[in-house]
Amino acid sequence: MAKEINTIGVLTSGGDAPGMNAAIRAVVREGLSKGKKVKGIRRGYAGLLNEEIIDMDAKSVSDTISRGGTILQTARCMEFVTPEGQQKGAEICKKHGIDAIVVIGGDGSFQGAQKLAGLGINTVGVPGTIDLDIACTDYTIGFDTACNTAMEAIDKVRDTSTSHERCSIIEVMGRGAGYIALWCGLANGAEEILLPEKYDYDEQRLIEQIKAAHDCGKQHYIIINAEGVGHSQSMAKRIEEATGIETRATILGHMQRGGSPTVMDRVYATTMGAMAVDLLCEGKSNRVVAHRNGEFVDYDINEALAMKKCIPEYMYQLSKSLV
Ligand code: ADP
Ligand code: F6P
Repeated sequence: MAKEINTIGVLTSGGDAPGMNAAIRAVVREGLSKGKKVKGIRRGYAGLLNEEIIDMDAKSVSDTISRGGTILQTARCMEFVTPEGQQKGAEICKKHGIDAIVVIGGDGSFQGAQKLAGLGINTVGVPGTIDLDIACTDYTIGFDTACNTAMEAIDKVRDTSTSHERCSIIEVMGRGAGYIALWCGLANGAEEILLPEKYDYDEQRLIEQIKAAHDCGKQHYIIINAEGVGHSQSMAKRIEEATGIETRATILGHMQRGGSPTVMDRVYATTMGAMAVDLLCEGKSNRVVAHRNGEFVDYDINEALAMKKCIPEYMYQLSKSLV
């Protein structure tokens, strides 16, 4: 029989992402509207282990929907990866009357939620990461804002690159995944994208292409390099030496994680946060909310973590053919 829950905890974990506040707001207000108590757990699993637990009311999330970052703060916590840390976390939940938790984060955070579920705390994960690297979902909170931020920055680099007739390597985030690079590659009309999932490390081919483009009169050569490939500075030096074309590297870095969320991030985060509460109120646990094939759905966390995700081949081929 489904366990009835009274108090829902909410935490953000791993890297922050624009839209996390919209998700927290939805969890709090949907929880309250269903007659539940809601508690905020600050600093992810680290805050849980330190009992940084606060009561949330409707007002505590006022004026947050448009703000980047996470009002609950976030952290990475090695202690929680250990069985002792997880046991301690579950006991702290019970001590504070928290019988269910919404975990907003990535795959790593979902593994924590899976462990808590096994220890009797009902959990639902909400995909929050700019990297889009969660296999069960076509959308993750923050990806849209991060891509828009990177796209605007790359447009600016392109202006100066054209003026100076340079080659520019712009490194975008994504940890081991190339989705931000792929989307920016298409959105910015880059000459080349380097993705960890696809790049063959044939730098000689790249050098020949840059020279050929230059000989055809191209005034710039924009390479969007994913963080997972990395080494943008040394690559720029080698390209300049080999081609004689001035080459600069720009690493966009953490600016991609900040800023006010786009309409897409606000609406999807709101829907997913509320859905997580609805699932908990139905007595469900060890689930993750996802957006798949145009619909909001949920999966068992174990099933979700076992799924694999690939770079969409057609989009990747377009990045090659439309140059
Ligand atoms: P993300 O959630 O974005 O993938 P991380 O991989 O850094 O980010 O994970 C965030 C946090 O989730 C970690 O710092 C840790 O506290 C927790 N976590 C990660 N892996 C596990 C695991 N295998 N078991 C329990 N908790 C985990
Ligand atoms: O997972 C989000 C992310 O921004 C990745 O793209 C990046 O690799 C990582 O987090 C950076 O982490 P930190 O904030 O610890 O430097």
